[in-house]
Amino acid sequence: MLKKIMVLLLVVMVTTAASAQQPKHSFEIGKKDFILDGKPFHIISGEMHYARIPRPYWRDRLKKARAMGLNTICTYMFWNAHEPTPGKFDFKDNLDIAAFCKIAQEEGLWVIIRPGPYTCAEWDLGGLPAWLLKNKGITLRSSDPKYMPATLAFLKRAVQSFKPNLISKGGNVLMVQVENEYGVYAGDKVYVNAIKQTLLDAGVDVPLFHCDWAGKNYYDNAHVEGVMPSINFGGGAQKNFAIFEKYAPDVPKFNSEFWTGWFDYWGGKHEVHSVEEKLADFKWMVDNGVSVNLYMFHGGTSNGFFPGANGSNTYFTPYTTSYDYDAPLSEDGEPNEKFYAFQKVIKDKYPSLQLPALPAPLKKITIPEFTFKPVASLRENLPKPIISEKPQPMEMLDQNSGYILYAHETAGPLQGNLLIKRVMDRATVYVDGKKIGVLDRRLNQSTLALDIKENTKHRIEILVEHQARVNFGNAIDSERKGITEGVWFNGKELTGWQHYKLPLNNVAAFKPSAHRNGYPHLYRAKITLSETGDTYFDTRKLGKGLLWVNGKHIGRYWFIGPQQTLFIPGCWLKKGENEIMILESESIAEPKITGITKQIWDTKVDSSLLHGKNGMLPVLPDADKKYAGTLEDKDGWQEVSFNNTFSGRYICLEANASYGNVNYTTIAELRFLDAQGKEIPREEYNIVFADSEELSQENGLANLLADNQPTTYWHTAWSKNEKQLPHQVIIDLGTSRKVKGMKYLPRTGVSKGRVKAFNLYVSEGGFEFK
Ligand code: GLA
Repeated sequence: MLKKIMVLLLVVMVTTAASAQQPKHSFEIGKKDFILDGKPFHIISGEMHYARIPRPYWRDRLKKARAMGLNTICTYMFWNAHEPTPGKFDFKDNLDIAAFCKIAQEEGLWVIIRPGPYTCAEWDLGGLPAWLLKNKGITLRSSDPKYMPATLAFLKRAVQSFKPNLISKGGNVLMVQVENEYGVYAGDKVYVNAIKQTLLDAGVDVPLFHCDWAGKNYYDNAHVEGVMPSINFGGGAQKNFAIFEKYAPDVPKFNSEFWTGWFDYWGGKHEVHSVEEKLADFKWMVDNGVSVNLYMFHGGTSNGFFPGANGSNTYFTPYTTSYDYDAPLSEDGEPNEKFYAFQKVIKDKYPSLQLPALPAPLKKITIPEFTFKPVASLRENLPKPIISEKPQPMEMLDQNSGYILYAHETAGPLQGNLLIKRVMDRATVYVDGKKIGVLDRRLNQSTLALDIKENTKHRIEILVEHQARVNFGNAIDSERKGITEGVWFNGKELTGWQHYKLPLNNVAAFKPSAHRNGYPHLYRAKITLSETGDTYFDTRKLGKGLLWVNGKHIGRYWFIGPQQTLFIPGCWLKKGENEIMILESESIAEPKITGITKQIWDTKVDSSLLHGKNGMLPVLPDADKKYAGTLEDKDGWQEVSFNNTFSGRYICLEANASYGNVNYTTIAELRFLDAQGKEIPREEYNIVFADSEELSQENGLANLLADNQPTTYWHTAWSKNEKQLPHQVIIDLGTSRKVKGMKYLPRTGVSKGRVKAFNLYVSEGGFEFK
């Protein structure tokens, strides 16, 4: 008897163990269809990245995917998150992809994994670790021996992390992607084959696929045998598949990324893509059995230093902390209009589909306004410096992200031009502890005028901020951060530099200190919560900086927008006391935050705001008109002294006549002088409106008239949508000030468009728009 029971027990144990290994399902690629368990299978998938969603919310988001009617989830793996330092892997907590797949399986969802190694995805360096760039001359995304070994080692390790989740092992992972849109980028087949082979050797025994844009050229660049092609697009489904079918007739149609919205960059206008814009394509695909992956179903947040950028040598748009993407499930996990519209398409196609109900909405809370207390200056918390002749970029100092303060000592006087070639990405320059100016890569700035007469010893400090590494296109190889090429003063290269590394991974350890004017300052607020819940921190009373909640780095905020709120998941808040810290770079007298329940999008400075009034113009009452004058048609600064002093916060300069008999207006720089005739620092004011800007043929942003760059200028539109004179630009001085005069630098060398006659209007509370 006992023997019998033991045998029985053994059989049970063996079968249980075996069933964990035994595939319950099978998945293959047919000629026209995907085949699941021997039957055609229509993939209706949605993309979400586990690294962009707090782990406690994975299940909530997956349930919502299921409730919309999706049957599959697609995710990238971000190499730079999984391997922050070479050889040190992290697959725990928020990076536990096996657990993510498991939860998806429990919720009835299949999974597609895209392990990179390159992902694009609006993520720093497209997911490639910054430390790769320590190799001088490395060619990323190629068979370069400086690049390949680390790449393949990561892939091997990545496969280990999700191997038990493969459908062949009883899990729910259907397919694995090779690289990402590689055909759009290059055509190194040695590289693509090595990725494929590594995945196979590491044990991936489910189908492999690759994605690209529709086009034979892309396909030819990236296609290798045994890897199914698929295509990405945001519209024109039929047209794209007509192209695809010609070169790939014998595979199922799979739209591996259907862009449901788009991403946002700092200073840009918030991307909104209507249901109408997206619905017809989605419906056509669903109705015709075309498999599709919604990119994104739920974007979430790029916390910490992970947002990416678009850019080149001359152009740079770093992305916001929010990755809302205008996707069907908003950043906070709430279904929106797109969700229901897409759900209806799926339900109409499959009327018998039994969809689970949406889970109860997660709790949202508001938090009354709280004020931060100053803690410590960044300048008083520098580590020991590293010395070298030439300034070194961050990667050479084994630093992935954050800031570096570079210091150089030299004898004065310092009168002339300071040049930092290729600022990566934003440099604040100080001489002897005084802030001189900012050079911003977004604005293509590289030189700053110094006017220091004393012939004593001086200390130049340059604080450089890593904002984001470009994640798309050919710039990636040269995305080293900090000072990457050198610093010159009046044409002579400055050598002998101290480097203070500031990865900012433990700001809580800063030692308290007094303020250092012009340097970033750490602030702390303690808030007591009686209940937790999701909230948006309204950052409109802050300037520009980074924010931490209970030690967790949420990410960047920046008054220019479009993002004016930071999503704070309730699962990272606590009942009782919570510690909020900010590292604020602007001089804000009393930083304050309120917790609200809705995201706010509003661009404050750049182009989109300037046009953001939807063609409205300021109402300029006669009573506000404080001065009328004329300016000269010549190179160099001109000073205008007003007959009397007036006070106000907003100044509107209205140009009503231009030199050269043209309808456009140009201004290189504009400053205002206070009651003592002293220049009001341009760092303290914001350009809040311009009636027109040239943005297509050149960069004519109005904020360039305060960028301290004589070579850049505000230029009203001329290539299209040219507007008649007069033209208006409005400057917000930050607070009410007494103003007695103005300084104007016309565009250098070009007379046409320089301001001839102008009016000044001044307002205390802001102008009305009509
Ligand atoms: C491409 C990439 C994605 C993402 C989108 C834009 O399709 O493959 O990673 O960058 O563009 O959101």
